[in-house]
Amino acid sequence: MSSEQRFGYEWKKYAHVDPLYEGQFQNWMAPLMPDGFRGKDVLDAGCGMGRNSYWALTYGARIVMAFDNDDRSVDAARNNLAVFPNAKVLKKSIYDINWNREFDIVFSIGVIHHLKDPKSALARLIESLRPGGILAIWVYSYEGNKWIVKYVNPIRIHVTSKLPVSMTHILAYICSVPLWFFLKITGGTTPYLKQIAGFKFWHVHSIVFDQLIPDVAHYWREEEILALVKGLPLRDVRVIPPPNKSGWILIGTKI
Ligand SMILES: C[S@@+](CC[C@H](N)C(=O)[O-])C[C@H]1O[C@@H](n2cnc3c(N)ncnc32)[C@H](O)[C@@H]1O
Repeated sequence: MSSEQRFGYEWKKYAHVDPLYEGQFQNWMAPLMPDGFRGKDVLDAGCGMGRNSYWALTYGARIVMAFDNDDRSVDAARNNLAVFPNAKVLKKSIYDINWNREFDIVFSIGVIHHLKDPKSALARLIESLRPGGILAIWVYSYEGNKWIVKYVNPIRIHVTSKLPVSMTHILAYICSVPLWFFLKITGGTTPYLKQIAGFKFWHVHSIVFDQLIPDVAHYWREEEILALVKGLPLRDVRVIPPPNKSGWILIGTKI
């Protein structure tokens, strides 16, 4: 089963757009808040069940084109975005898209670090942008996650990404239950943990589960992210931490 299909299991199980996802979206897309989406033609690459497109549309995007490479994710996104006549959801791989200068904003949240060929995916996303359009990507960071790279990655690579995904969902309770008690007792010890301390248990569990399912998960250093877009037609490139200091936001303008 591919990573996309394993994520499809996740998005079928966690298909509801919870109001708390809005804060996550604002965090991941912080440089575009509060009005950056208004009136824009937007592409959401690797949309999952559509929770991020949902907020882009709520914030006044003119059109949102969302795509993902798994049927269950696409079905869930179509359901969640059905209330917006200006939303379209397609089943597509990021490697096969062929939009040319069609969007004002191309965003992708939590996707590029799961790809075997992130550079070619980024080249295609940039090609989809009109000159002057904005690329906004959120990815995992190495900085702040060294313990995941050291202790969780080997378990993910050798065990949890290989098991039937329903079994990994059950195994994830081994981490999510103690994490939940830790969050309730401490209220969170970092800006990110403080944020998720306010989440419901199922949400914390889904975050742990999400970490354990894919076969590829890069935790990049700032300079590694810059290297991914080197030579691509992008100016004013910045790699910045989001407000909750978890991961990196890559942002740049199409030349
Ligand atoms: C962690 S999920 C994030 C989903 C969504 N962006 C969100 O934040 O809710 C990663 C998503 O990337 C999608 N994905 C992975 N590889 C892909 C590819 N080659 N083409 C399109 N989507 C892909 C998966 O199917 C999955 O839905």
